[in-house]
Amino acid sequence: MRIFNFSAGPAVLPTAVLEQVRDELLDWHGRGMSIMEMSHRGKDFTGVIEEAEADLRELMGIPANYKVLFLQGGATQQFAQIPMNLLAGGSADYVLTGSWSKKAWKEAQRIGEVRVAGSTEADRFTRAPRADELQFDPQAAYAHICTNETIHGVELFELPELPAGVPLVADMSSHILSRPMDVSRYGLIYAGAQKNIGPAGLVIVIVREDLLGKALPSTPSVMDFATMAEHGSMLNTPPTFGIYLAGLVFRHLKAQGGLAAVEEANVAKAKRLYDLIDGSGGFYVNPVEVASRSRMNVPFTLANPALDAVFLAEAAERQLSGLKGHKSVGGMRASIYNAMTIAGVEALVDLMQDFAARKA
Ligand SMILES: Cc1ncc(COP(=O)(O)O)c(C=O)c1O
Repeated sequence: MRIFNFSAGPAVLPTAVLEQVRDELLDWHGRGMSIMEMSHRGKDFTGVIEEAEADLRELMGIPANYKVLFLQGGATQQFAQIPMNLLAGGSADYVLTGSWSKKAWKEAQRIGEVRVAGSTEADRFTRAPRADELQFDPQAAYAHICTNETIHGVELFELPELPAGVPLVADMSSHILSRPMDVSRYGLIYAGAQKNIGPAGLVIVIVREDLLGKALPSTPSVMDFATMAEHGSMLNTPPTFGIYLAGLVFRHLKAQGGLAAVEEANVAKAKRLYDLIDGSGGFYVNPVEVASRSRMNVPFTLANPALDAVFLAEAAERQLSGLKGHKSVGGMRASIYNAMTIAGVEALVDLMQDFAARKA
């Protein structure tokens, strides 16, 4: 039986995709072996990665002058790998909007010179920064943002205006594929797989071609985007199972009508939850400014934290899991990624309404 999994990541995947994985696990397309057991250089796997890339390009509308890389590791590895590849002895700007962008900024300091272009930490990361709070270095090698802060539940719906020629780099780990995005506005997009894409261990990098070839001379070849792009992400063995599963998720999203349809469903799910929180008379509180509220990660606190454990116990009884908030912000967090169904959100809303009625 599948329960409703609200975990922030690794997170729920579409049941239909997992069923297909199960059906193909021992014998992929009549080959008598699983996809995991095949050479990454054979025709079968090459077909899988090519189709995955083509489907991702179609879903996101990725322009032809961008490379798509399917790499090992996670977004944290990219916190270092991106400055290794793009800093080129210069300096980079970071916008701090929550724990993840702050970690990216800290890690980049190990590689080279970075500065803070603006931060909302004084407001406890509860909103997107205003344009007049951001000051970018016109000489910056790039400017880094996190477009969805998984822990603080802050999503950026407007991109900062950058000085001409400064490429925008975005960590989209926790909301990639949740809505259409204009890829051409970014120099580089990266996302760990384990929320909206597939299993952990795979990270996707979408990079504009003119940004390749600037890696620091000390960059290991498996970490050099240009080398990886030259070899179609296969300088070495790529995370084949993750790429296969990601490809199935991309196909599934296409069958649902693409990202415009996915967005519509995500807006409806998020609205249901935020409306309930805002209408609870303070029993539940989401601290994020309305315009910056994440459609993927909904943190909320109970007015009486002594009820937290009871709430979680009742959630577990109703087969709702993964709702405990991140330790840095406390309370609860409902992650409602693409694969969380409206039925799951309704089940959570039912619990929250019923719980508030009994305990208020
Ligand atoms: C926005 C964001 N960036 C980076 C990471 C780190 O990803 P990983 O654990 O794959 O390195 C996470 C993980 O949850 C995340 O949500």
